[in-house]
Formats: sequence, C-alpha cells, structure tokens
Amino acid sequence: MAAIQALRWDGRRLSVVDQTLLPGAETWLALTGAADTAAAIARLAVRGAPNIGIAAAYGLAMELSARPSLGALEEGAEILMASRPTAVNLAWAVERVRTAALGAGPSTIASAARSEAQKIHAAEDAASAALSGFGADLLSSARTVLTHCNTGALATGGRGSALGVCIELAERHEGVRVIACETRPLLQGARLTAWELQRLGIPFSLIVDGAAAGLVRRGVVDGVVVGCDRVAANGDVANKVGTYAHALAARAAGVAFVVAGPTSTIDVGTPDGDAIEIEERGAEEVLQFGGVLVAPSGTSVINPAFDVTPASLISALVTEKGVASPLDAASVASLLA
Ligand code: MRU
Repeated sequence: MAAIQALRWDGRRLSVVDQTLLPGAETWLALTGAADTAAAIARLAVRGAPNIGIAAAYGLAMELSARPSLGALEEGAEILMASRPTAVNLAWAVERVRTAALGAGPSTIASAARSEAQKIHAAEDAASAALSGFGADLLSSARTVLTHCNTGALATGGRGSALGVCIELAERHEGVRVIACETRPLLQGARLTAWELQRLGIPFSLIVDGAAAGLVRRGVVDGVVVGCDRVAANGDVANKVGTYAHALAARAAGVAFVVAGPTSTIDVGTPDGDAIEIEERGAEEVLQFGGVLVAPSGTSVINPAFDVTPASLISALVTEKGVASPLDAASVASLLA
C-alpha cells in the first residue's frame, strides 16, 4: 500500500487531495497561487494544522513565481493568513516564507520562497516521524487508544501527530486498537481517520462523540491521544471541538490524556488558552447532515470549530523535540530552547 499523501509538490505546482470529498472520492485539485490555496484551506479541502501551514507556504511561493514582487508577497501573505485563524502553523509558515522572500533579491524572490516552503514541508514530515516515536514510548503499555478528529497523513505532511502515535504503537505491539471519534459536525474522524486506518490495516472502531466519556469511564480506553492547533505559552491547547470533553473524562477516570503535535504548533506569543482565537464556522455545518436538514430551518446555531483544554488536564505534550510533562510554561519553553 502506497503511503497516504495529502499534498504533492512537483517543484513548481501544488496538488492537494480534496478532503471534503473523502472517503467517497480521491480527487486531486491543482492549486496555482495564494487566492485558490486560501480558498481550499477555508473550505477544508486542505486541513489539519501542520498541513495548512505547508499548503499556505507553497501557495505563497506559487504566487511569487507568477508575480515576483513585494506587492504580491504582501497581498498573498494577507489572503493566506486570513483563511483560518486558530491553527498557528498557518501564520507561522506564511511568515517564514515571507521573511525568506524579503531576504532575497528581486530575481531570486520566487526561488527563495519555494525553497523555504520545501524546507517547511520536509521538517514537518520529519517532525511527524520523531514525535510518533516519542508518543509510542510514552503510551507503550496502552493497547486501546481513543483519538479525536483526523491527525494522520491527511493533516500533517508526514505520517501524523496523534494518529502517528497510534500507528507507531500498532507497528510496535500486537493487539493495538484505535477508537476513533466521529468528530461532529464535519466528521473528520469518520470520513478521514477511518479511511486512513482502514488503508493502513490498523484495527479500529468508530464511535459517536457522545460515547467517548462513557467508554473512558468503563475502563475500555487505556489512553487518549489528540492533536493540537495551537499550544499557548502556558501549555493550554486549542484543538478540534470536543477535545476538552475527552480531557475531562480522562481526568475523572485517571486515564492518560496526551497531546501530540510539532513545535510549529507552539505559539509563545499567545499567553494562555483564553487568548487563542477560536474559529466560528457556518450554521449549515450543524443544521445539515450529508446535505439533509436535521433541524428546523432558521434554528440558531453556535459552531465553534475548536475548544481549549487547560494544561492542567494534559498528561503530556509530545513533540519532535521531546515530551513536556508536567505541561506548564517552563516545560513548553524548554521544548523551544
Ligand atoms: O478543522 P480541522 O479539520 O482543520 O481541525 C483539525 C484538528 O483539530 C486537528 O486535531 C489538528 O489540526 C491537529 S492535526 C495534526
């Protein structure tokens, strides 16, 4: 089985698998610059914190290949950064490409941007592999692991963050099983994590999000591992909505609750979870299921795409640079030292 890929870069052009169409169809979209890359990120055709950073970096590089100018650099950076607010990897990657481009001369602005985007992509791939190993060390005695959303190859540019930990655990030990939460409203767990695990041949069961706490309380789950979209300086973590409830259930049951992600997701400029901007998405995502209206039309909706889990509920943060545990300002800072 070929490795799962979310995006392909041929040196000039980026193609991404349209994740809104999975698992029904594996359709590749050819992207050309900042505007279409930003649109693909905003509608979740490309998604997952590290992956939107990589895509945005290539989007800006392609924009500069088409229009090698400082104006295009600033316009492209602005469009891309506005596409989604919560995952810091997006702004971080755009800023890295912008800095590399500003440091280049007019004739090399595009090649400098392309080279920086490729470096980001390669580093995220390597980070996935390293942190998966650290996470599997940490959870070595766990055989049934619960996860939320999709944090695999579709989300990271490498093998995965939280799902990378599950995959590594399954490679190392017999009898590892993943419990995947469906992840309402957009079903990243059902559509994407189940698709990845099935292709990888790793045993798993899919559950509705509301079943998670009861299974954790009954002792069915040995550990919970989730990804992250932004880690604040004090260790508070923003991740897909529903994550906080899993952390509360894990704490009540005395089960390990592990967050996995590359250090590109750490934002020391954000002091704590309350300062993280939480993306609010459209009402139709909640009002409809598979395109069918499931609530009276006109129903008022609150649809935060993410929630914040306080550091005090997190057993460990696993990154490519090692593990922060207990998770607090000092251990976060030491990961970046
Ligand atoms: O809205 P999404 O699908 O982009 O949300 C993704 C998540 O919340 C993931 O858990 C997170 O980005 C980590 S991906 C390694």
